[in-house]
Amino acid sequence: MTQESATVDPPGDELFARVPTEVSVYEVSPRDGLQNESTLISLEGKRRLINALVAAGLRRIEVTSFVSPKWVPQLADAEELARVLRAPEGITFSALCPNARGLERALSAGLSEIAVFLSASEAHNKANINKTIADTLAVFSEIVPPAREAGLLVRAYVSTVWGCPYEGAVDPARVVKIAEKLLDLGCYQISLGDTIGVGNPRQTREIVRRFLDVMPPERFALHMHDTRGTALANVLTALEMGVRDFDASVGGVGGCPYAPGAAGNLATEDLVFMLQSMGISTGIDLDKLIEAGNVAEQVIGRALPGKVHKAGPFRLRRSPTRAS
Ligand code: HMG
Ligand code: MG
Repeated sequence: MTQESATVDPPGDELFARVPTEVSVYEVSPRDGLQNESTLISLEGKRRLINALVAAGLRRIEVTSFVSPKWVPQLADAEELARVLRAPEGITFSALCPNARGLERALSAGLSEIAVFLSASEAHNKANINKTIADTLAVFSEIVPPAREAGLLVRAYVSTVWGCPYEGAVDPARVVKIAEKLLDLGCYQISLGDTIGVGNPRQTREIVRRFLDVMPPERFALHMHDTRGTALANVLTALEMGVRDFDASVGGVGGCPYAPGAAGNLATEDLVFMLQSMGISTGIDLDKLIEAGNVAEQVIGRALPGKVHKAGPFRLRRSPTRAS
């Protein structure tokens, strides 16, 4: 029995019947985390952060973006970074890719995975990638098939699923339709983004239910921002429904520069602490993950909001020692 699975007795409750025994964590701090930082971070700092994440056991890491350097200056060094990184066996480094130019850059940089991205709301899509949703899907229909033919894995994000900073409520039925189109194009998984951290568990139940009605849980992931402190509550709701893929960012750093108020991704160490103490395996070493959070703070040059990073780990024991 692993240290992780020995932490608590499984709660016999039927609510927990579908909770997975293993969860895959997709780390976004080098990309989503850093893209919103106004002070330019050195290539060496980015490499240190990524190495610390690898050492902690993260196997899927989004390392940068091949977007316009005018739109996201922080990640303008994407090629240079890709050149100095070597993905160890079993680890995938991926990068955001908005268009044909991005695909060309990702291919010449030698990455094995890209992530295309769009929003469920027109106004955010326009603000973020300067196109309508239909035009964006047309671009993706021209880049996803050749990316797959070139041997790349392609993931896709749908942003503003829980709410849009410009339009407010978003219809989940619309999100499902967009996700199905992206899967049909050849994306292996759709990451559903609560871009501005407004989601609540009731809404999450509704969104996840609609997805589970039409696809198995491995086809989608949750990408929660913790702007208003509801990210883990939403994760728990999704776990209870059998969702097993979650995005997170060490230290809780991050946000979309084109979504006002989009501060703070769910901190990876907060997610991993909760999962491990529930007996759910992630393959991640929490102590080393906290170390990676320290590296992120050094590299970024300020304290980060992640809670477990500050409080430290705490391992429950099955029963108190019987010394007395
Ligand atoms: P545009 O200005 O409409 O594009 O931007 P364009 O095709 O007219 O090109 C304008 C210039 O950009 C041209 O250069 C192009 O060559 C260049 P110029 O002639 O002016 O010198 N260009 C590029 N350069 C490098 N790489 C490229 C590229 N494409 C064009 N790939 C564009 C359209 C999509 C490029 C732009 O809007 C953009 O880069 N947007 C990215 C914004 C972004 O990265 N946002 C944050 C990520 S999304 C997010 O955080 C949400 C997420 O985390 C999930 C969630 O939380 O919900 C994923
Ligand atoms: Mg995000």
